[in-house]
Amino acid sequence: MTQLPGLLDTEAIRKDFPILDRLVHDGKKLVYLDNAATSQTPRQVLDVLSEYYEEHNANVHRGVHVLAEEATALYEGARDKVAAFINAPSRDEVIFTKNASESLNLVANMLGWADEPYRVDQDTEIVITEMEHHSNIVPWQLLSQRTGAKLKWFGLTDDGRLDLSNIDEIITEKTKIVSFVLVSNILGTVNPVEAIVRRAQEVGALVCIDASQAAPHMPLDVQALQADFVAFTGHKMCGPTGIGVLWGRQELLEDLPPFLGGGEMIETVSMHSSTFAPAPHKFEAGTPPIAQAVGLGAAIDYLNSIGMDRVLAHEHALTEYAVKRLLEVPDLRIIGPATAEDRGAAISFTLGDIHPHDVGQVLDEQGIAVRVGHHCARPVCLRYGIPATTRASFYLYSTPAEIDALVDGLEHVRNFFG
Ligand code: ALA
Repeated sequence: MTQLPGLLDTEAIRKDFPILDRLVHDGKKLVYLDNAATSQTPRQVLDVLSEYYEEHNANVHRGVHVLAEEATALYEGARDKVAAFINAPSRDEVIFTKNASESLNLVANMLGWADEPYRVDQDTEIVITEMEHHSNIVPWQLLSQRTGAKLKWFGLTDDGRLDLSNIDEIITEKTKIVSFVLVSNILGTVNPVEAIVRRAQEVGALVCIDASQAAPHMPLDVQALQADFVAFTGHKMCGPTGIGVLWGRQELLEDLPPFLGGGEMIETVSMHSSTFAPAPHKFEAGTPPIAQAVGLGAAIDYLNSIGMDRVLAHEHALTEYAVKRLLEVPDLRIIGPATAEDRGAAISFTLGDIHPHDVGQVLDEQGIAVRVGHHCARPVCLRYGIPATTRASFYLYSTPAEIDALVDGLEHVRNFFG
């Protein structure tokens, strides 16, 4: 068995994830390498979810009975856990949403309805990058169309990194917001936050970071990032689906207007007008995803019990091994950095002229789950002149043996297609 320095005790960890024992396609062992799409859920989280529904289920913030108080304490307790996990200065800066897309749409819509000094209009600019997930492109396109603000973006270098050579022309005195991904879901690139934030601060622009592929895999400190907003999602970090997070700086959350209106987000309502609750409740209209937030809290407990530094070291070792092994496969081209430095554990590639959907299907027949397509980052495929990629992505329970299985599987794909 391949041993690499820095690996976690995956034999023990995998016992926490019942699904990893599944057999597929007539008894083939599941090799789950689609963690950038969604991670698997440990027993510890499944147990908390069952216990929540078996013992505590009620609506939050509005009941005087025991269950309502317990559900509220669990829901707000999850907010405390998230705040500590990302080193937020205040728990009130943590907004629960349904996913990272909703978090990013929330930022775009807060700014869309904001007054000065945050107002986005035809005299201002919005900056993103060419490696964004669609969830960090489309909300800004919509805002640009609605307000007349100009949408600009950083391009990509041939080796899958951001081209910041023209940073002073892209981020200017007109820039209102710079929104970019910390770790690309398709290229795996880890972006140089500091350089971008420094330039944004020079011109007084706000910074929003999509940390969907970072929060599950590395220590995340929103104060160290010096951003104004950070978005991520629960289901990629051992939590359930249906729960996302938007962290925002307190004074911004106080100043910016709500997006969705409804129950729970108000202070008073008359037939003529309403006043709003303080953040975070101002941004959480309606019954929130209560069980899902509690599940995310349990996922954070689980990740903390292992340690995010150790998760990062494990994935770095696996990525280094995977890059080396994948480059041994004839005709394989990594789309993104072909190194383990400054990259996360999602590796996209093409295999000669075999269509990624065919690659994915033949791998699936061998029990190997990868994602194929444009990964909701179609501009990246356009940039590199490819229709799609095959993407393998690892997590804390992934093993070198699974990478070997992938490489063997790719050999089989090549033989199959002659
Ligand atoms: N954003 C997810 C992915 O990259 C769905 O697969």
